[in-house]
Amino acid sequence: MTARTIRKAVFPVAGMGTRFLPATKAVAKELLPVVDRPLIQYAVDEALEAGIEQMIFITGRGKNAIEDHFDIAFELEVMQKRRGKDLSALEGTRLAPGNAVFLRQQEPLGLGHAIWCAREIVGNEPFAIILPDEFMHGAPGRGCLRQMVDAYERTGGNLICALEVPMEETAAYGVLDPGKSDGVLTEVKGLVEKPAPGTAPSNLIVAGRYILQPEVMKVLETQEAGAGGEIQLTDAMAAMIGTQPFHGVTFDGNRFDCGSKAGYIEANLALALEREDIGAHIRNFARKLVC
Ligand code: G1P
Repeated sequence: MTARTIRKAVFPVAGMGTRFLPATKAVAKELLPVVDRPLIQYAVDEALEAGIEQMIFITGRGKNAIEDHFDIAFELEVMQKRRGKDLSALEGTRLAPGNAVFLRQQEPLGLGHAIWCAREIVGNEPFAIILPDEFMHGAPGRGCLRQMVDAYERTGGNLICALEVPMEETAAYGVLDPGKSDGVLTEVKGLVEKPAPGTAPSNLIVAGRYILQPEVMKVLETQEAGAGGEIQLTDAMAAMIGTQPFHGVTFDGNRFDCGSKAGYIEANLALALEREDIGAHIRNFARKLVC
């Protein structure tokens, strides 16, 4: 392991998913499928592809099914094997023993607080964060976190995935005050969470992927509530700018905001069209539907 190896990723999955009610009344929003894989599985696949070994899930009440998803489904597997069925669909659902950690955030105090709940497990090493709502779809072997880990080997410090959105959408996100950029790496001079309309320093947002130094946990320890009355990760990161290198990485791939209904449907459509088994069928159907 070198000083620049990222071994751990934190997945905040305690949110109640109110935007998808009633679908999310009894089902964790992270288990909603895009075609046939749950959102959280894409996030874990992305982490595995980036070389992450330990997955740390910050869950809450009503989210036990996420833990079951990453366990062995004993009866199912025995039955499928007995019937001579292929089990490859379950690939990535069984993490190495000891490499899936589930912690509870007892109260919804904000993303910064959720990450801080992982401090003892993260320890004194840099770590990644993946927000599963932000579905980042890259070419095989070129997922978003993989691209960031590659960039991190050059930059060190702190990295966030930076993405352009229409200016009028910036109020829903963490927004960068960008410095010099080579098109892929952009210096971060400042960060502001959910800026009031008309005050955003740019239209570059923090798109749900982070590689952070462990010092952020110290900052979070005393971080006061910010936007929306919540303890914001963005505020803690902003406090580290100037003390450590801080860059935004441009992702080469497609992003779907699966925290919104439209983004979720777009992700399903895009991934269905890519599939060998159903792609042609869905393409024909979609053509008929819009003609
Ligand atoms: C969170 C972060 C925000 C980031 C966004 C990406 O916001 O606080 O900085 O831009 O995720 O989706 P939330 O979606 O929890 O309001």
